[in-house]
Amino acid sequence: MNEPTNTFEIVAKTQFGLEELLAAELKALGATDIELLTRAVKYRGDKALLYKSNLHLRTALKVLVPFTSFYAHHENQLYKRIRQIDWSRHLTPKHTLAIDATTNSDIFHHSKFTALKTKDAIVDQFRDRFGIRPSVDVENPDLRLNVHIHDKLVTLSFDSSGNTLDRRGYRLSRTEAPMNEVLAAGIVMLSGWTGQGYLLDPMCGSGTFGIEAAMLAANIAPGKRRTFGFERWKDFDGELWSKIKAEAVQAERNYSGQIICSDLDQHAVDISEQNAKRAGVERKIIYRQADFFDSKPPGESGILLFNPPYGERLESDDIVNYYQEIGNHLKHTYPGHTAWIISANAEAMKHVGLRPTRKIKLFNGSLECRLQKFEMFMGKKGEGNAKTPPAISN
Ligand SMILES: C[S@@+](CC[C@H](N)C(=O)[O-])C[C@H]1O[C@@H](n2cnc3c(N)ncnc32)[C@H](O)[C@@H]1O
Repeated sequence: MNEPTNTFEIVAKTQFGLEELLAAELKALGATDIELLTRAVKYRGDKALLYKSNLHLRTALKVLVPFTSFYAHHENQLYKRIRQIDWSRHLTPKHTLAIDATTNSDIFHHSKFTALKTKDAIVDQFRDRFGIRPSVDVENPDLRLNVHIHDKLVTLSFDSSGNTLDRRGYRLSRTEAPMNEVLAAGIVMLSGWTGQGYLLDPMCGSGTFGIEAAMLAANIAPGKRRTFGFERWKDFDGELWSKIKAEAVQAERNYSGQIICSDLDQHAVDISEQNAKRAGVERKIIYRQADFFDSKPPGESGILLFNPPYGERLESDDIVNYYQEIGNHLKHTYPGHTAWIISANAEAMKHVGLRPTRKIKLFNGSLECRLQKFEMFMGKKGEGNAKTPPAISN
């Protein structure tokens, strides 16, 4: 791998729809040659930037360092080419190994089989050269490799993150449908929250929006409480890493705004508080057990972010009425506010009855969702949302 002063190609992977936010985060970190891909951003940087990417990026899922590409026309060729690489530069037989594979190819259909072939090629090389071989540890390996095959083009990358970056280490307790931390951070960033005024999550579940919003406003590095794959690499620079972590703590700040999270379910409120405690932001968030339909805004204007139930277990009439009630309550009780709602239930969303000023396609796990922005303008008394601007889609 490269010396600290050298730059090399890096690929940060993300979720669909968050690529531009990730590119902006990378620009702020000092990345160069930034190129947007689908669900990823390619850039150049040195070892310090690689470490910082893992520590600071809120919208990245993984940070990969591609190190070789070649064409393979069949599985045996894949095996042969991988076996030709000198793996002793990166591993010893005592190390453990994990392989992730993604394939988009007519030849290599099965990503699991591709991973297996890659693993065989590496361990067979060790067995031949040293008589012993590294073992596989899918959970906590010393080296995690990523194999990506597009058509016949194979790209091998070192996975510098290890566990995916959404695992910030604060959410040990979960409610039923928790939101991925990377998606939650992306939505907070899209909402324009900078730590001023107030931000409400009236259906907070396990509290992901509130925690991500607090960490963003306080400039707390999302990776502060976890470890990364690169810390076990042969070329790991412990001194550089300590310096980067110390600088991140120094850059934390106070902010003036307020975050209020509530949920109908007291258990969800308790879980949110426990998660916030682990993230170190519990004193920055107010938690309440409350029904959104009885709620009142704490001031004249603010941001609401919420992720209502999608209604998989409800009759369609019930869920349509429920979304209609959300719209009514926003319209009558929250004039002057901006609400961002994410839902996979496209039909129910139509019944919110407010005109969205932005629609963004995102995925919550495998569910295709729309994040919609509603601006409740101050109207004449009792006429919230009187001036509805035209809808904008992207
Ligand atoms: C999909 S979950 C939210 C998940 C959350 N974004 C997270 O990251 O864990 C929906 C939440 O809405 C809450 N909820 C449903 N109806 C509500 C209401 N009328 N008032 C307040 N909370 C409600 C549920 O208790 C549930 O925790």
